[in-house]
Amino acid sequence: DPLAFSGVWRFHELLPFAAPEYVVTIGEGQTLMRNSARASKYVGIDEGNLYLQYEGMNPSGSFKDNGMTAAFTHANIVGARRAACASTGNTSASLAVFCSAHGSMKAIIFVGSGKIAYGKLAQALDHGALTVQIAGDFDDAMTAVQEVSRRLGIYLVNSVNGFRLEGQKTIMYRVLEGLNWEVPDWIVVPGGNLGNSSAFGKAFIELKELGLIDRMPRLAVINAAGANTLYQLYEERQLRWHDGYGDDELVDQFFDDMTERNARASTIASAIEINRPVNLPKCLRALDACSGVVREATDQQILDAKAMVGAGGLGCEPASGASVAGAKILRDQGIIAPSDRVVCVLTGHQLKDPTVTVAYHSGDRDLFNEVLVQRGVKRAQHANR
Ligand code: F0G
Repeated sequence: DPLAFSGVWRFHELLPFAAPEYVVTIGEGQTLMRNSARASKYVGIDEGNLYLQYEGMNPSGSFKDNGMTAAFTHANIVGARRAACASTGNTSASLAVFCSAHGSMKAIIFVGSGKIAYGKLAQALDHGALTVQIAGDFDDAMTAVQEVSRRLGIYLVNSVNGFRLEGQKTIMYRVLEGLNWEVPDWIVVPGGNLGNSSAFGKAFIELKELGLIDRMPRLAVINAAGANTLYQLYEERQLRWHDGYGDDELVDQFFDDMTERNARASTIASAIEINRPVNLPKCLRALDACSGVVREATDQQILDAKAMVGAGGLGCEPASGASVAGAKILRDQGIIAPSDRVVCVLTGHQLKDPTVTVAYHSGDRDLFNEVLVQRGVKRAQHANR
């Protein structure tokens, strides 16, 4: 029974758009949350108060499967034959697995040239996705895929697709399950295209309306310092609070300004190397609903936190380390209290990007710089111990 077998669809009452016979599942969402003494100590909160929600356990190795099963199911309902995405690697890996497993749809993926960690590119290739390399980065690939899919009538599975977010809500249902439906004080999540943070906000708003939770957790979204549009915008928005600026106006202004400066995102955490997150307005609403905060973490802070997660028994990819790095920043600033219960989401598996991990632990500055050059990370805020 797919509705029982999937960690997403066993909550089908809360994502009621699909009749059971249309559901396409690869066994996604069978993930776990683990308490981490090591990470508690690192972040600086009371032992036992830090939890890691390990989404690397998904079939394609990242949280994306939670959303992809929902989008793919919708694509199946509308009879799509081709599905496309732009990706920093994990969305494309997930789409490739779903297409190859189900056989009804062809996967077409757009990636920035040299921007994808090999673990992720390997998945797209092995699962037979048509893989198009764009001269540019994720933001360019996103523009291109939106244009192409609109023109050719291809089903788009990036998180502009609302069904993706419906599936990703279940990550929070499982967190709550793990805590016996006691709402934690904080949910900390890396921010890239801002699908997760938007989905989590929606999940909590709905659960509160349904009376299934009695209070909202606080949401912390962590940008990489080299890809910090949300962080900048959030600060700016607070400054302009009295000026009557609407969010959409502010977002447009930010994007225009970035175009003018030809600004490029730049971080070793390639999964979140994004300057123009498509879910910005939705994420702002989620932050409002959950008394949210936004912080930025440097590549050094991200990789140090990632190594700490690894030392504590769970392996994650660089972008995932941003959540633990962000929790530490918020604790150091006195915003997270030692007695707070904090859930950090580990979004992707360690084996997604072994190149960066090996370079980090090698202590070899030249090797690390080589990786930065390969990935086109210009500002080398690099991590050598
Ligand atoms: N962590 C990982 C491992 C990711 O792959 C992504 C996004 C994020 C965090 C950010 O999540 O977009 O919901 O804010 N990866 C996308 C991709 C962009 O193409 O795989 P978000």
